[in-house]
Amino acid sequence: MSEEEGEGTGAEKPRYETLEDLPGIGPSTAQKLRELGFHTVESLAMATVRELEPAGISEKKALAIISAARSSIGIAFIRADELLRMRQNVLRLTTGSKALDKLLDGGLETQTITEFYGEYGSGKSQICHQLCVNVQLPPERGGLNGAALYIDTENTFRTERIVQMARHLGLDPQNVVKNIIYAEAYTSDHQMFLLENADEVIKENNVKLIIVDSLTAHFRSEYLGREMLAVRQQKLNKHMHKLIRLARAFNAVAVVTNQVMAKPDMFFGDAIHPVGGHIVGHTSHTRIYLRKASHGPIRIARLVSSPYLPEGEEIFKITENGIEDISEEEKAKSSGR
Ligand code: GTP
Ligand code: MG
Repeated sequence: MSEEEGEGTGAEKPRYETLEDLPGIGPSTAQKLRELGFHTVESLAMATVRELEPAGISEKKALAIISAARSSIGIAFIRADELLRMRQNVLRLTTGSKALDKLLDGGLETQTITEFYGEYGSGKSQICHQLCVNVQLPPERGGLNGAALYIDTENTFRTERIVQMARHLGLDPQNVVKNIIYAEAYTSDHQMFLLENADEVIKENNVKLIIVDSLTAHFRSEYLGREMLAVRQQKLNKHMHKLIRLARAFNAVAVVTNQVMAKPDMFFGDAIHPVGGHIVGHTSHTRIYLRKASHGPIRIARLVSSPYLPEGEEIFKITENGIEDISEEEKAKSSGR
């Protein structure tokens, strides 16, 4: 075994900066890999052998490249204590509401996906806007000192809203908007393409928050009918896996939004179901169901599933300032919701 392949003991890890630095990658292979969306060593560390095939890379060579990339960023067989250490690298991002943060045990986690689902106007996009501002805060204020990447599928992103939220937090709005990298996705394929090619942008801009709002809208309108269901789910699955790999490689928070569908054949229980069904549910690690209180700015967030947190419910409000906690008075009023 050559030194480059290493044992992953962490003693002297080779650091590869660019694709060409990796053993076995020349300029033309690097070019093909970039065309496939692999722009960074981190993205190759998270790749599968099959994904490198279209670049004309043999299985053996693909394995060597992936393992070199992994050794470079320190992913190998690891002992559980190291797993614990990785887990300790998980950072948290504040939502802007203490109640919502409490529901999430301190905020949204890096390295996993958080899904917000709910009906029209329930606040999914507003939370996304707020997170884009919050991520730029220093850690002592609940931020990650990083930038945001916003993939918008419904053209609902508004810089005016960002400016309002930034001002409220005492941040310079000009700086804040500069640190939000925006892309509008026109179709589901375009949406997938954007994410598949995002790794360089993420790295160069120190992106610590990746948003796909909405995850499912294009898929839902393009893949109609039962016979399309399997291919839709397969694509959604691939898209989500790309997202989780980016979140892990760059220790970033990943957020997706999802509409809800009423199931007409369900008369009992909760008739509201997120689009995408089980696949989205299994890959997204934390799911939060948002709904409106009877009227006004108050919203109810329900933690529906999480790898380790108990289910629970908290309330917050959407105001001019953004996502905020409600006062005791408002709390008392809303208890009759
Ligand atoms: P869809 O994307 O349509 O499924 O909805 P969504 O869940 O993304 O809803 P969104 O986050 O866009 O929430 C919209 C709601 O937020 C509005 O109906 C308002 O109640 C509230 N909102 C948005 N902007 C403002 C604002 O500037 N001031 C105040 N007070 N409320 C706002
Ligand atoms: Mg929205």
